[in-house]
Amino acid sequence: MTFPATRLRRLRKNQIIRDMITETKLSVNDLIMPLFVCPGTGVRNPIKSMPGNYQLSTDMIVEECKKLVEKGIKSILLFGIPEHKDEHGIVATDDNAIVQRAIKAIKKEIEDIYIIADICNCEYTTHGHCGTIVDGDVDNDLTLETLAAQAVSFARVGADMVAPSDMMDGRVARIRKALDEGGYKNLPIMAYSAKYSSAFYGPFREAAESAPKFGDRKSYQMNPANSDEAMREIALDIEEGADIVMVKPALSYLDVIRRAKDNFNIPVAAYNVSGEFSMVKAAAEKGWIDEQRIVMEILTSIKRAGADIIITYFAADVAEQLSK
Ligand code: PBG
Repeated sequence: MTFPATRLRRLRKNQIIRDMITETKLSVNDLIMPLFVCPGTGVRNPIKSMPGNYQLSTDMIVEECKKLVEKGIKSILLFGIPEHKDEHGIVATDDNAIVQRAIKAIKKEIEDIYIIADICNCEYTTHGHCGTIVDGDVDNDLTLETLAAQAVSFARVGADMVAPSDMMDGRVARIRKALDEGGYKNLPIMAYSAKYSSAFYGPFREAAESAPKFGDRKSYQMNPANSDEAMREIALDIEEGADIVMVKPALSYLDVIRRAKDNFNIPVAAYNVSGEFSMVKAAAEKGWIDEQRIVMEILTSIKRAGADIIITYFAADVAEQLSK
């Protein structure tokens, strides 16, 4: 049947019918808010390139989490800015390291919050790379050991989930083994499976103080031109024991999210990264775009592409919009 019998505008007549046939619905249940924890007390240090985001000391992060929970956001992803860095990122494997202290403080005060700990070395190494450097490049197998130690420590202090973002080969298997041996067989792993070497991470590196001091991350993060390779990464992570797989960044990679959803029967997360956030904020500050509408459109498109879970710095703002 075609025009004039068929008229698609009939079902766009008013808000009631439009709502009734809406295919993709955003929910606070799908959103994870990233937070940055730093040393000290009473610290709420604005991140210049990410308006509305802060480096927070443990006491302040507890307050922030209380506000998030009130708004309906139930899950956070934690990154740490340590007091000291070292060659290998060993500093992050201690039960009293910065993220571990935050996890303990939050868990002590807030019952209904789901804490995901990001596993990586770049915030903790003096050189800013995601692992141990040998001959000018990150050594894969040595790095697996620090990642596994970080995972077990996060588990010990009460993290609900761990999320390796380093892009070493075999890390999911190594972390799964370490968790199982440590008695944490029920702790899930959300793997940053298809993580691209992206210029969209720029603002995050200011926030986490994790920019590499030499070179780039192209020998471990993926080439933005590749999508078959993303499917291989995802398939391997699933085989190694990932419970959730992730595509990151989100907006320039919506096709990859869709392929992941179509090819695998596993929850897919998408990371709406710092650069994607900051571009919207900058244009909105200039009055060039309608921020609230753009944010809803962006997050809806990520979900429509196939993401079950969205990690986004807009989580708190969106929670307010969704509750209206
Ligand atoms: C750590 C890590 C990065 C991000 C998440 N985990 C930065 C990077 O790989 O350089 C980026 C997140 C964002 O841009 O919001 N490896």
